[in-house]
Amino acid sequence: MKHILVTGGAGFIGSNFIHYMIQHHPEYRITNLDKLTYAGNLENLRDIEAHPTYTFVQGDICDAALVEKLMQPADAVVHFAAETHVDRSIMDAGSFITTDVYGTFVLLEAARKYPIERFIQISTDEVYGTAMSPEGVSRPSLETDALMPLSPYAASKSGADRLAFSYWATHKLPVIITRCSNNYGPYQYPEKLIPLFVTNALDNIPMPVYGDGQNTRDWIYVEEHCAAVDLLLHSSGYDGEIFNIGANREYSVLQISDLILDILGKPKSLIRFVQDRPGHVPRHAVDTAKLRRCFNWSASVDFHAMLEKTVQWYREHETWWRRIKEQDAGYKQYYQQQYQGNV
Ligand SMILES: NC(=O)c1ccc[n+]([C@@H]2O[C@H](COP(=O)([O-])OP(=O)(O)OC[C@H]3O[C@@H](n4cnc5c(N)ncnc54)[C@H](O)[C@@H]3O)[C@@H](O)[C@H]2O)c1
Repeated sequence: MKHILVTGGAGFIGSNFIHYMIQHHPEYRITNLDKLTYAGNLENLRDIEAHPTYTFVQGDICDAALVEKLMQPADAVVHFAAETHVDRSIMDAGSFITTDVYGTFVLLEAARKYPIERFIQISTDEVYGTAMSPEGVSRPSLETDALMPLSPYAASKSGADRLAFSYWATHKLPVIITRCSNNYGPYQYPEKLIPLFVTNALDNIPMPVYGDGQNTRDWIYVEEHCAAVDLLLHSSGYDGEIFNIGANREYSVLQISDLILDILGKPKSLIRFVQDRPGHVPRHAVDTAKLRRCFNWSASVDFHAMLEKTVQWYREHETWWRRIKEQDAGYKQYYQQQYQGNV
């Protein structure tokens, strides 16, 4: 495997993954296909943009001619590109269906024409909906659980997830589907919970907590997600399989808010409860026993240490997030609307 086509590599996880790959596989060629939507940011890749094995192509995964051209020399695909923000999907789902479902179809169609050795479909734990057994008992989701997406984002990712599986079942494209829990770390667009709360707190602006803040998520440091994807990318014998990826560390939104305020030494009065998100999932958590059993891999870094490291990164990269918050024309309007003026 020498040449990896990465989609959505200018976003949060994609840019961390490209950094990871250049560090761990410096001999690989990486082509990054990214449309540069509001969430794509070439600043995330500034330090490696001139790296001899790295190429950036600005383009849309829905552009079949471009995708086919880039697929031809590739040995493997890691498909991150997506519209990803649940709240935005509630307000306007059209682009989610186009990119997440149709865009994935375009990639799969091109991939099946070439001898692609591995196609990693980056799905999400959101596809399960609330983590529970078929009997309704709360427990981490298993790869065999039914898909019960509760938001248009989760539904569009479910469509892509099953479409990818069908290209394995029908065309024997060597697909692996990953369903990862909530990521945190550097370069995350400050509309997502942790960077939103950290950057608001740094500016002494309220942190908008939906409902009672008791909704829990399993939080994984982004580099650990990248390490698991790298492992699966190089695996053999798991075609058509699904792997949950998570850290088995569940925290409620309120606990995360408290931890961030403690790290920053800011008052709890910055927590502002706002109207709950429609269709808000009370618990997302994944059972990662399969990944452990097949690869003896599990996430190992300390959550508190990594959260502190992440907070420190946003402290040290104020220009990065302030430019987004101040210069992205839609950002302020979006947040005023989303949190009823509470930010
Ligand atoms: N962030 C999480 O916690 C999390 C957890 C599990 C799975 N995922 C999945 O991981 C992937 C990456 O998530 P993220 O948080 O880095 O997202 P992100 O929103 O930060 O980045 C998405 C990237 O995709 C690009 N993109 C969007 N539409 C495109 C199109 N039509 N053509 C080409 N590029 C396009 C954007 O420009 C951006 O660079 C997504 O598939 C997401 O569903 C995310």
